[in-house]
Amino acid sequence: MAVERPRLVLVCGLPGAGKTTLARRLAQELSAVRLCPDEWMVDLGFDRFDGDARDRVEARLWIHAQELLTRGAVVIMENGFWDRAERDEMRLLARSLGAAVELRYLDVPSSELHRRVGLRNKEPGAAVISPELLAECEAAIEVPGAAELELFDAPFAEGPAVTPR
Ligand SMILES: Nc1ncnc2c1ncn2[C@@H]1O[C@H](COP(=O)(O)OP(=O)(O)OP(=O)(O)O)[C@@H](O)[C@H]1O
Ligand SMILES: [Mg+2]
Repeated sequence: MAVERPRLVLVCGLPGAGKTTLARRLAQELSAVRLCPDEWMVDLGFDRFDGDARDRVEARLWIHAQELLTRGAVVIMENGFWDRAERDEMRLLARSLGAAVELRYLDVPSSELHRRVGLRNKEPGAAVISPELLAECEAAIEVPGAAELELFDAPFAEGPAVTPR
């Protein structure tokens, strides 16, 4: 069955949750355009932790995503999406453009997140995320609950919206 277009897929989760891994796979499977602000920040020469630059890159990518949706694309945005208000806003705007909207939340136990991020910190050129910073992230995220997931369209093709532990 062909995927219904246009479609926006929001990939949500903490550092190391597997957002990029999932988004790359879905982009292949759905012939989708994947937009990852982290990659744009690095490729444009910004420091990943430059908040002003990040805000501008994210805002511009969201405009680009809307243009792609109006052309009937499947757009995958992977960006943490920790805030409920941001997810609400994006869902409503994409729907107003006639798009189906999926939310994929990667639910990974804290110990596994710390293990993965610890391994990645050792890779050359990695943007190091300390255990303390990761713990702050864990405290900051507004985890999507069942009631919120109900507001989104069913994930296309495979699996539940929440990747099981
Ligand atoms: N399902 C999985 N099981 C085990 N390891 C995984 C899984 N998904 C991803 N990983 C590994 O965890 C690490 C982080 O994955 P990935 O880069 O996809 O996460 P991320 O959510 O994009 O992180 P960040 O927010 O920091 O960009 C990688 O080393 C990846 O290979
Ligand atoms: Mg990533």
